[in-house]
Amino acid sequence: MVASLTVAALALRAGLVLRRSRRGDRRRTSLSRRAHLRLAKPAVGLLLAGFIAGPLSVLALRDWQPFRTFHGGLGMLVAGLLIATALMGRRLETGRSRGFDAHALLGLLALLGAAVAAVAGFILLP
Ligand code: HEM
Ligand code: HEM
Repeated sequence: MVASLTVAALALRAGLVLRRSRRGDRRRTSLSRRAHLRLAKPAVGLLLAGFIAGPLSVLALRDWQPFRTFHGGLGMLVAGLLIATALMGRRLETGRSRGFDAHALLGLLALLGAAVAAVAGFILLP
């Protein structure tokens, strides 16, 4: 999960490069767009894989009830935000939407939530 969060943070940084170039006078390059997509897609995949593995591990290895922890609740919120970010990102990518601000805000909230979840996850470690 630490690795997935790192990739997600790099994706956010690449997204913010795009944002600055959109708002300033600098030309946005297809290179920086590719950099964002190359990081953001695996980041979302890795985080969602972790979101599925968490409750499976809780069931199989711990014999707990899934989603009874604060960490699990935050995880659900983060997963929802990530899916919304990715769906909006996909629409931006294919040119069906120009909601850059909404995508950026959702992505930022998802990552902030994931950071809080990470803190809350450490106390669950055996
Ligand atoms: C970790 C999740 C993600 C974060 C934190 C994130 C963040 C951002 C940010 C901050 C921007 C700049 C918005 C602006 O110009 O104001 C952006 C742009 C964009 N993102 Fe994401 N994003 C994420 C995931 C994705 C995914 C999964 C996709 C595609 C499936 C995607 C596609 C795009 C596209 C196409 C743009 C616009 C690029 C352009 O204007 O040429 N993003 N993203
Ligand atoms: C460094 C960051 C993280 C650490 C150290 C961590 C650690 C853990 C641990 C130890 C468990 C219990 C599994 C077990 O021992 O059987 C767990 C469960 C879980 N994790 Fe994480 N986690 C992290 C990040 C995340 C993130 C970012 C998400 C959301 C995308 C997430 C979603 C979940 C979920 C949904 C569960 C199941 C909890 C439940 O059923 O109550 N985790 N995590």
